[in-house]
Amino acid sequence: MSTQELLCIGPECGARFPIGEVIYTCPRCQSLLEVSAPAPLDVEAARRAWRERRLSDAPEDRSGVWRFRELLPFDDMRHIVTLAEGNTALLEAPRAARYAGLDALLFKHQGFNPTGSFKDNGMTVGASQALRLGMKTVACVSTGNTSASMAAYASAAGLLPVIFLPHGNISYGKLAQALEYGALTIQVEANFDEILRLVRELAPKLGIYLLNSVNPFRIEGQKTIMAELLEQLGWRVPDWVVLPGGNLGNISAFGKAFRELRSLGFIPRLPRFAVIQAEGSAPFHDYFRRRGEFHPVAKPETLATAIRIGDPVSWPKAIQVIDETNGVVETATEQEIADAKAVIGQCGIGCEPASAATLAGIRKLAAAGVIGAGELVVAVLTGHVLKDPDYIYRYHTGQLETPSGARIEPRFANQPVTARPDAGEIAALLERYHRH
Ligand code: F0G
Repeated sequence: MSTQELLCIGPECGARFPIGEVIYTCPRCQSLLEVSAPAPLDVEAARRAWRERRLSDAPEDRSGVWRFRELLPFDDMRHIVTLAEGNTALLEAPRAARYAGLDALLFKHQGFNPTGSFKDNGMTVGASQALRLGMKTVACVSTGNTSASMAAYASAAGLLPVIFLPHGNISYGKLAQALEYGALTIQVEANFDEILRLVRELAPKLGIYLLNSVNPFRIEGQKTIMAELLEQLGWRVPDWVVLPGGNLGNISAFGKAFRELRSLGFIPRLPRFAVIQAEGSAPFHDYFRRRGEFHPVAKPETLATAIRIGDPVSWPKAIQVIDETNGVVETATEQEIADAKAVIGQCGIGCEPASAATLAGIRKLAAAGVIGAGELVVAVLTGHVLKDPDYIYRYHTGQLETPSGARIEPRFANQPVTARPDAGEIAALLERYHRH
C-alpha cells in the first residue's frame, strides 16, 4: 500500500483516512475526498524515466497513465489493470484555429484511448484500486463513456461490472460498448443526477465498489492527461486549457495535476482553465455568474448527452480550480456545439458532441477578448467521433433538432449523395462536385 492518504477537502474538517478505506466522501462531514500529494521527486530523473518508459514493452510502462506512476498512490504494479491507455495525440488544427479566431490551436485528443474517451485514464487507476481492495463487483452511473470504460476495465480485471444508465438518453455507440464488454446494464427511468443519488446510497449496502468520478482514484488517473500534455509541450505551461464540464471530475483532476506539478518543481506557474458547458445543462456557469450557493439545474437538457448533468458531484473541487487559476466558465448553444463539431471533423480529427463544446466556447471567448489570438491554447477532446454517429448523420442531413424541437441549421453540412451503378452518372456527379 502507498504511504499516501485520503484527505477530506472540507474547509473545517481536514480529516485523514488510510488509502485502503472504502469511502467516497468524508464519513464525518460528507465533503469530497482527495488523495494526498505525492512524495517529493527528482524532477530531471522523473522526466527522463517517464520518457524512457515509452520504449519499454512492460505493460505498466506502455500505459500513458502508469508511466507517470510517481504521481499515483500505488507503490507496486502487482494489482494494476491496464489496456495501454493514454499516450494520446496532441494535434495542431489550423482550420479550427481560424474558425475560433486564434493564430493556433492544439487538440489533446482523449478519444484515442482504448474505449474512446478520457475515462480510460481514470478507470485504469479506479479498477486497479478495486482489485487491490479485493472487491468483486464495481458499479457506476453514466451518461455513457464512464460505463463503456468501466465495463472494459472491470471485465479485463475479472471483476463484475454493473452499469446504471439514464434510459433513452445515451448514444447507441456507448450502450453498445457496455453490452459488448459484458456489463450488467440497467437502464433506469430517471436522469443521471437522480440515478447517481440512488446508487450512492445503494453501493455501500450491497458491497459494490463505486467507480464514478466521486471516487478519488479516478481523479488520480485523469491527472496524468495533464502530465502527458506538459511533456508533449516540452514542459511549457499553456496559457489556456479548455475542456467541457459535466460532472466536473475532469476539471478537478486537471487542477490537482497542475497544483502538484508546480509544488514538485516541474512547472513554475498554472495555466488558466476554461470550462465549457452546454447552455441547457450549465449549473457551474450559473454559479460563477451569481456566486453565493451552488444551485443544481433540475432538468438538464442537451444533445451532447455526455454532459447532460444538472447536479455535478465535484463542484466544490472545480470551483477551487477556477478560482486559483483565474479561470472562466462559458456556455455554448446546441447550434454552436454542432457547428464546432463539424469544423473539428473538417480538420480530419473529429470528436463527439460534448468535446466540441470546447471549440464553440473558445470562439466566444476569443471574440470577447478573454482569450488572446496569440496565446497557447489547448482544447481537450474528451471522446471519439464514433461515439455518437446518429448525431452526425442527422446534422449533415439537416435532421438534427434541439431538445425543445428547434431545427439545427447544418452550416457545414456534407450530405451523402445516391447514384445508380453507372459510370457516366458518377463522372457527372464528380464534375459537379469539383465545380462547387
Ligand atoms: N466529455 C465527455 C465525452 C464525457 O463523457 C464527459 C462525462 C465529459 C466531457 C464531462 O466530464 O464529468 O469530468 O466534467 N461523462 C460522464 C460519463 C459523466 O458518465 O461518461 P466531467
